[in-house]
Amino acid sequence: MTRLIDSFGRVHRDLRISLTDKCSLRCTYCMPAEGVPWIPKQSVLTPEEIERIVRVAANLGVRTVRLTGGEPLISPSLIENVRRIASIRGPDGPLEIAMTTNGIRLPEFIPGLEEAGLSRLNISIDTLDPDRFAQLTRRDRLIDVLAGIEAARRSSLRPLKLNAVIMRGVNEDEVADLVEFAMEHEAEMRFIEHMPLDIGHTWDRGEMVSREEILESLSSRFSLEPLPGRGGSPAEEFSIDSGPHKVGVIASVTAPFCANCDRLRLTADGHLRNCLFAREELDLGSAVKGGASDEAIADILRATVSNKRSGHGIDNPGFVQPDRGMNAIGG
Ligand code: 5AD
Ligand code: SF4
Repeated sequence: MTRLIDSFGRVHRDLRISLTDKCSLRCTYCMPAEGVPWIPKQSVLTPEEIERIVRVAANLGVRTVRLTGGEPLISPSLIENVRRIASIRGPDGPLEIAMTTNGIRLPEFIPGLEEAGLSRLNISIDTLDPDRFAQLTRRDRLIDVLAGIEAARRSSLRPLKLNAVIMRGVNEDEVADLVEFAMEHEAEMRFIEHMPLDIGHTWDRGEMVSREEILESLSSRFSLEPLPGRGGSPAEEFSIDSGPHKVGVIASVTAPFCANCDRLRLTADGHLRNCLFAREELDLGSAVKGGASDEAIADILRATVSNKRSGHGIDNPGFVQPDRGMNAIGG
């Protein structure tokens, strides 16, 4: 088996698939209030096309598939996608299937997702305050997200992770409260440094709340010990008050983890990206819709990985933000 290895020796095992660029929220760090020109329906990959791509990717060593968006719960074919991906057997057996969601309408979907073969969930929650939530996401729906997290707590989907982007003057005072909330819901809280990925280009390095500030704020309430065994994971994990609870920090900007990156990304319109910040994409979707062979699909996957740069270069003077926003790339 030829694996997906880039020119820096990084082996790629994690494929993130955006099922739709649409979303039920309008987080200010992601999308403008009025939304964006959506991907045309005919360009969106069908479940059959996604299954074919994942089958080929699994034979090249991909072991984890993460379904993202926009908001994957909005995709009418979500359950079918999970079922088809769960039927695939790679060289090491079935794939792990994770999903990143904003949690809205999760309670009604969980039984179907469990039955279809989903392994685990990451739910985004940036604040526990309803007014802040409404400001930050431009939708008054904290109550629906909380119901989604409660349904996840009662489900079999583990480990359960909650994600928050911490922003100055917005939610930086909620870091410790969010960790307590996560512990009450059998979940691991993870804090993500704000990255320059919004379509409105509002990111400001000086405004960003750093890993160091997040850890400092946590240490006022908890005692944290770094945990070993990070592997290719973007999150640096810490035990809370000697365990068993954990908290993670994803310091993409101040402590990039590019050297251990094992991820590649497929957009809802079938473009392959080797990085969140990639400037180039290969149009795998058109190839698949045009009847490409498995070998041709494998070539496109390998070409994407072999072009991968050593890192995202956010700190380089020449850094240029990608044209696509997070809603069209997937987290
Ligand atoms: N920086 C960091 N995280 C982001 N997310 C969306 N946009 C950004 C950004 N600019 C997060 C969401 C969600 C995950 C998919 O990515 O909050 O948790
Ligand atoms: Fe939707 Fe996620 Fe973008 Fe928020 S960050 S608008 S939840 S896609």
